[in-house]
Amino acid sequence: MAVAGALRDDALRGKTIVVTGGGTGLGRAMATYFLRLGAQVVIASRKLDVLEAAAKEMAADTGGEILPVVCDIRDSGQVEQLLAKSLERFSRVDALLNNAAGNFISPTERLSANAFGTIIDIVLKGTANCTLTFGKHWIAHQQSASILNIVTTYAFTGSAYVVPSAAAKGGVLALTRSLAVEWGKYGIRSNAIAPGPFPTKGAWERLLPGDLAQQFDFKKRVPLKRVGDHQELANLAAFLLSDFAGYINGEVVTIDGGEWLQGAGQFSGLEAVPGDLWDDLEKMTRQAKS
Ligand code: HXC
Ligand code: NAP
Repeated sequence: MAVAGALRDDALRGKTIVVTGGGTGLGRAMATYFLRLGAQVVIASRKLDVLEAAAKEMAADTGGEILPVVCDIRDSGQVEQLLAKSLERFSRVDALLNNAAGNFISPTERLSANAFGTIIDIVLKGTANCTLTFGKHWIAHQQSASILNIVTTYAFTGSAYVVPSAAAKGGVLALTRSLAVEWGKYGIRSNAIAPGPFPTKGAWERLLPGDLAQQFDFKKRVPLKRVGDHQELANLAAFLLSDFAGYINGEVVTIDGGEWLQGAGQFSGLEAVPGDLWDDLEKMTRQAKS
């Protein structure tokens, strides 16, 4: 059954939200829902054709106002231009959703310095470029605002085989919590979302190439036995950027069906024990008393 939108129709009316990586995958799903809730949206990434096609479809689907802007977030000059173009079109910006990312799987010892740096440059430095540019603008104009960063659950656990991404996302989480305190006095809220598996073309092609998607079935790793629905993430993002969440600052909200805790719990593997074996196991553990 399709997941419904959770917020009332005008929940983001009058707000302008900049979404990096907003032309594809989860960024597009969140941006589309923001448009439905009455926000004006700027989507930014490197590929003009992808952005323009997405913007056209999103405007037709929602009737909302959307501006596509080419911007490589690794380049602070281009991020300045992103702010300028957003202001030129919508006069103000109320929120920044740092969603753009780069990632691929690899044994770490196979990575060149440039491969490692490429991911750090997009995820950590790109997020910092956007946060600094928009944050300085808001502070100079004494404008309250909201920053939402998309991290992952391995931002707090770390993860083998995606080490540059884990290091960068961990940095973004630290940035989120640090600025929640430092910029709270300016009325700027900083929060993060840590999604579990939400299938997208961008992530699945790079993280589960070939038949890895069958072999390494994410559904089996999640206590709820399913992957996430994009609308579930969009509902959470819209809430955190709305005025309903006005007192939430410095929080990271996990939305993963319980996946990371299943991985962490020492005895979670007992899931594999067949139901009828538990009578014998109980007898044995009770005997241990004597
Ligand atoms: C080893 C690799 C590699 C690989 C690239 N490199 N792919 N090394 N294994 N599979 C190396 C290259 O050889 C090069 O190093 C360096 O990385 C830069 O590669 P480029 O292709 O020149 O970089 P660029 O064109 O900037 O592209 C960046 C990219 C690409 C990250 C490599 O995949 C991209 O554009 N990604 C954007 C979208 C994306 O990744 N989406 C997924 C997000 S999913 P040398 O030394 O040779 O020059 C996500 C999910 C988390 O974050 C959790 C899911 C559950
Ligand atoms: P995606 O579709 O590949 O999204 C990544 C986006 O980032 C693309 O639109 C890409 O556009 C943009 N981007 C990459 N490098 C950029 C740069 N240098 N400058 C500007 N934009 C850049 O993958 P996704 O799955 O939707 O991921 C979205 C976010 O969710 C990421 O932060 C990811 O880490 C996070 N996440 C995803 C999952 C999941 O299961 N899908 C789980 C946890 C976290 P261009 O190529 O046009 O630049």
